[in-house]
Amino acid sequence: QQDLGTDIEKVLVAEAQIKHRLTELAADIDRDYAGEDLLIVGVLKGAVMVMADLARALHSPVRMDWMAVSSYGSGTKSSGVVRILKDLDTDLKDQHVLIVEDIIDSGLTLSWLLANLKSRGAASVEICTMLRKPEAAKVEIDVRYVGFEVPNEFVVGYGLDYAEKYRNVPFVATLAPHVYS
Ligand code: PRP
Ligand code: MN
Ligand code: MG
Repeated sequence: QQDLGTDIEKVLVAEAQIKHRLTELAADIDRDYAGEDLLIVGVLKGAVMVMADLARALHSPVRMDWMAVSSYGSGTKSSGVVRILKDLDTDLKDQHVLIVEDIIDSGLTLSWLLANLKSRGAASVEICTMLRKPEAAKVEIDVRYVGFEVPNEFVVGYGLDYAEKYRNVPFVATLAPHVYS
């Protein structure tokens, strides 16, 4: 069993910062969608934490649905070729949709997903991401709600994994080099 204390190198976004930023984002979302029905769509598995916390910070009774996608590619890089592992249960026709992500790295996953959901006849499709790596962007995406911008380093925690671990770390951090070896 590895010890989290020695696996973490540096905390980039603390638990309290995440919580505070989520209340700000939730207030923006409540205001922007006032009087509308909203469907928030979490992208499994990374978005589980931000979906759960954002949904509870909202004051409006949103509906929640989930998609699982896989970008072909291994390790820490994504390729942009996306396949749907679990589709939505909801018909998007005329729906206001907010995609919720933990991180936008290259942007390839979301750029594909955005086009895919828009093609289903949604009234609107916007994006909320807790983290964004501006330096890693390979495609430009219009993102309405961003929690924090982070440097182009491999980060884990708050839903983000390394080899499926560290998703349950309650803050965002970099890993010590020994974890990768
Ligand atoms: C990660 C992350 C985003 C995506 C971002 O998911 O949660 O969904 O990569 O990368 P991109 O902007 O370069 O496309 P991952 O594919 O690792 O699946 P997971 O959410 O199950 O960890
Ligand atoms: Mn993901
Ligand atoms: Mg991952």
